Amino acid sequence: MGEKESVAILTGGGDCPGLNAVIRAIVTSALQAGLNIYGIRDGFGGLIEDKFKLLQLEDVADILARGGTILGTTNRDNPFHYAVHTAKGIVFEDRHQVVIENLRKHNIKMLFTVGGDGSLKIASELAKVGVQVIAVPKTIDNDISGTERTFGFDTAMSVAAEALDRLKTTADSHHRVMVLEVMGRYAGWIALHAGVAGGADCILIPEIPFEREKVFAAIEQRRRAGKKSSLVIVAEGATEVGGELTVARLVEDSFEKIRLGGVGNKVAEMIEQALKIESRCTVLGYLQRGGTPTPYDRVLATRYGVAAFEAYQQGKTNVLVALRDDAIVTVPIDCVADKPRFVDIEGELVRFARKLGICLGD
Ligand code: F6P
Repeated sequence: MGEKESVAILTGGGDCPGLNAVIRAIVTSALQAGLNIYGIRDGFGGLIEDKFKLLQLEDVADILARGGTILGTTNRDNPFHYAVHTAKGIVFEDRHQVVIENLRKHNIKMLFTVGGDGSLKIASELAKVGVQVIAVPKTIDNDISGTERTFGFDTAMSVAAEALDRLKTTADSHHRVMVLEVMGRYAGWIALHAGVAGGADCILIPEIPFEREKVFAAIEQRRRAGKKSSLVIVAEGATEVGGELTVARLVEDSFEKIRLGGVGNKVAEMIEQALKIESRCTVLGYLQRGGTPTPYDRVLATRYGVAAFEAYQQGKTNVLVALRDDAIVTVPIDCVADKPRFVDIEGELVRFARKLGICLGD
């Protein structure tokens, strides 16, 4: 076993539908090529805590359609800014040297990191200190630059669209305004796509700060036209013009502390107060990132996984596998790390939404 080439894989950040499909694709490819492949448990923290486990084919059997990640994950641990809990509180330490030592100890030639923009930033820092990395773009938020699509987004968007379909029946039966708050952090991809797919009357996204009067006017106009109910979808990062983000909590030992949430309730309350129409908010939360990936996400995740391993076999390093014009390509990590990708407000779907008469709050 000692003379065999070894590679490793970890999943970082929030769980996401399709993670297991990527793991399966990379592990199967590596084993078929005669390599050892280690799974690192619990994200980048596992690299520090030496949670390495040799994986076999049976470890990845029957996981293609399973949500979550068999390796475990966390959106807290950053080896360069690692939270250590002391009697005096949390102290952050640079532990990247431990990561290098652990990778060396297991003779790892390549580290596959499957994660969102936080993980990509860490991967790019690790690359700078000499670790060989290939990254795979994961996130329901779809906010990684360099790729046209992250896996997990299709599932989240589909769940959110279905939620709108379900909310519509209550909206219509009770003549209410139903507000759906979805995730996405500082980007509005989930809200925009689910809003169009689910027939929302109003879509509020972070890229277009909204004016409450515009939202009220749109709903009022519908009421005057005889439409007794309205559907509003709000991204958790949406803000009013000149307003602040709505923060749900701060996670002190996380390298990115802010967790968004709560704007949907604010929007529902302001609509009810201003228009005297009964309004309710549903926060979709983790339902949109748990559970079975859509077939599209399974295929995309599988393509990313196989392509990531192929990139390794071709001698590539410090790259992200990415989707461009429906082909999988590689792009240098340092060109895309720490550069979130936002909805283009001049883009096709925004323009078409406006043409359909959907209120975007501006
Ligand atoms: O990045 C994925 C995501 O689900 C975001 O949409 C959301 O803002 C965040 O993670 C929530 O993080 P946590 O799991 O720490 O609550």
